[in-house]
Amino acid sequence: MSRDPLLQPYQLKHLRLRNRVMTSAHEPAYPEEGMPKERYRAYHVERARAGIAMTMTAGSAAVSRDSPPVFNNILVYKDEVVPWMKDLADAVHEHGAAIMIQLTHLGRRTRWDKAHWLPVLSPSHRREASHRAFPKKMEDWDIERIIKDYADAAERMCAAGLDGVELQAYGHLMDQFWSPLTNELDAPFGGSLDNRLRFTFEVLAEIRKRVGPAFILGMRYTADEVLEGGLTRQDGLEISRRLKDSGHIDFLNVVRGHIDTDAGLTDLIPIQGMPSAPHLDFAGEIRAATQFPTFHAGRIQDVASARHAIASGKVDMVGMTRAHMADPHLVRKIMEGREDQIRPCVGANYCLDRIYQGGSAYCIHNAATGRERSMPHDIPKARSRRKIVVVGAGPAGLEAARVAAERGHEVVVFEAASKPGGQVRLTAQSPRRREMMGIIDWRMAECDARGVVFRFDTYAEANDVFVEQPDVVIVATGGLPNTAVLGSGNEWVVSSWDIISGSVKPGTDVLLFDDAGDHVALQAGEFIAASGARLEIMTPDRCFAPEVMAMNLVPYMRSLQKLEVTFTVTFRLERVSRDGNQLIATVGSDYGGVRKERRVDQVVVNHGTIPTDELYLALKPMSRNRGAVEQTALIDGRAQTLATNPEGTFQLFRIGDAVSARNTHAAIYDALRLMKNL
Ligand SMILES: Cc1cc2nc3c(=O)[nH]c(=O)nc-3n(C[C@H](O)[C@H](O)[C@H](O)COP(=O)(O)O)c2cc1C
Ligand code: SF4
Repeated sequence: MSRDPLLQPYQLKHLRLRNRVMTSAHEPAYPEEGMPKERYRAYHVERARAGIAMTMTAGSAAVSRDSPPVFNNILVYKDEVVPWMKDLADAVHEHGAAIMIQLTHLGRRTRWDKAHWLPVLSPSHRREASHRAFPKKMEDWDIERIIKDYADAAERMCAAGLDGVELQAYGHLMDQFWSPLTNELDAPFGGSLDNRLRFTFEVLAEIRKRVGPAFILGMRYTADEVLEGGLTRQDGLEISRRLKDSGHIDFLNVVRGHIDTDAGLTDLIPIQGMPSAPHLDFAGEIRAATQFPTFHAGRIQDVASARHAIASGKVDMVGMTRAHMADPHLVRKIMEGREDQIRPCVGANYCLDRIYQGGSAYCIHNAATGRERSMPHDIPKARSRRKIVVVGAGPAGLEAARVAAERGHEVVVFEAASKPGGQVRLTAQSPRRREMMGIIDWRMAECDARGVVFRFDTYAEANDVFVEQPDVVIVATGGLPNTAVLGSGNEWVVSSWDIISGSVKPGTDVLLFDDAGDHVALQAGEFIAASGARLEIMTPDRCFAPEVMAMNLVPYMRSLQKLEVTFTVTFRLERVSRDGNQLIATVGSDYGGVRKERRVDQVVVNHGTIPTDELYLALKPMSRNRGAVEQTALIDGRAQTLATNPEGTFQLFRIGDAVSARNTHAAIYDALRLMKNL
């Protein structure tokens, strides 16, 4: 038997967990009508099949009607959830993993204009900054009703055959009772710590009455709000002890911090460029103080850190949640001694940010996650070996090469630059975003292991491709910054990529016109502001950097707000002219009626990229399909069979930004879904 600390079983009450790796609760927003259906099941089964010990499903599953989901959570207040959860539990159990679910009432952390338009409630009228609702202050009958709702929900989960439930108490109703910042009730539910904990213990007692002593019950809670006037570390230790002493709880699942603001949420769930495992020592302190089963997740994204978390005795079970979104086969690869093949979580947080914008959680560089029913995590071999030429070694080209090589094809990649990575390599110029190179490095290693031939420093012309006698050509040549968007004066502006790549030095008084709202603008902004320049970032949008999303915005604001930067929304740069050493920027507005001028010494325009399509257009007449994609076949997961040009000798496809400016996930998904059938 393996001596790897991560692979040792763990006995939780009567439940034997087969190793120490779990995924903590994370709602990927996959429910349909609030129910965990086939897509949900496939997602969790993929992990269970690959060896994870326990999957904590859902995340913030709603126990009451007045806790409407903010990102498509499971509605455990409905009886119809039981058969769906039972199917999910059975399927996960079949593969030897344990399964639990996180239950919650969101309290003020939601909105009243969702679902049934019921008032949002909390133990005070204090509003949560993130979700903006002014809550109703709870009454006695609310408290009685919600205690019953928790117990009903837990009973449903027990009936569905789950191994247990955990209650969420960070930023949600339960700890809104605990925290002096959010509890303004009088006794018996407000005032002293005893009173503030009363709601929790009444919920726990009621649940126990319904589910009996065997069913596993845990609490995922903040043991230190790290917020002035909030719950302190001492409070957290005291609460931990009381939870243990209550006799109702079987495990503690510790987090540290608060989530009422985007910044707070990002400190609690750190993203790329932030420290790894920042709260692990704290979780270890709770375990040491309570001597009680302790779980923890929080940017423990690599196997070495996870192993340390267990080997050092800081926690009993380690959560590797986003790490499993990047690679659901993580545990299997550890067991098979293939750790070096684990697709790394690069902390891009595309997954988590997306759900707050109403979308499903997708991993920035694993397009099969959340699409298990249509996209493979293990690429099947092709029936016959073909010759594939890929042009471009950015994320799209490398994914195409990787998948083609896994299918057993012979693959040659041309790349004009001397190194792979394309725009991702440029992104990684920002020290905070260096981890993005994991997207490229992992693919290069996978390609190398499968004999993919790379021709760097080669600007492929049609003939270079043609002489390879390919069966299939994939054009993944990306795009170039598009700055020609002004009425006049386009010749005076530079692009954000010019700044990021270092090919243009920042000026001293700079206007950055961001008409794309993406990372690139803010990265360029960071370079400019860090050089000591005065910077105005202007957007015609009504909010700033709309494509960057909430948690990803946090580190940018933390750096930009400290520097000489102003942010201007709803104004549009129309023209630029030159006056001696200076530039005159004419600024208008889509709303009309205003025009003003700014004098600066540099104008930077961020407006996405224009496809680099010369090679594609040159190859098109020689190809069998004239570059056309059969969209229904692509969507349905069938091979491309169009053959409109009898003289054509190869199939030709264009992917990623070579088609239109999108993002890394789109580029990788383009490649995966096309190549898996080639
Ligand atoms: C898409 C997504 C949804 C999440 N939803 C929840 C949730 O509903 N409840 C919860 O306690 N944590 C939630 N989390 C946080 C995770 O449980 C975990 O704490 C976090 O991802 C940090 O762990 P990691 O670095 O291993 O990913 C979510 C995370 C992700 C990625
Ligand atoms: S999107 Fe980023 S943070 Fe989320 S799982 Fe993928 S690599 Fe990790």
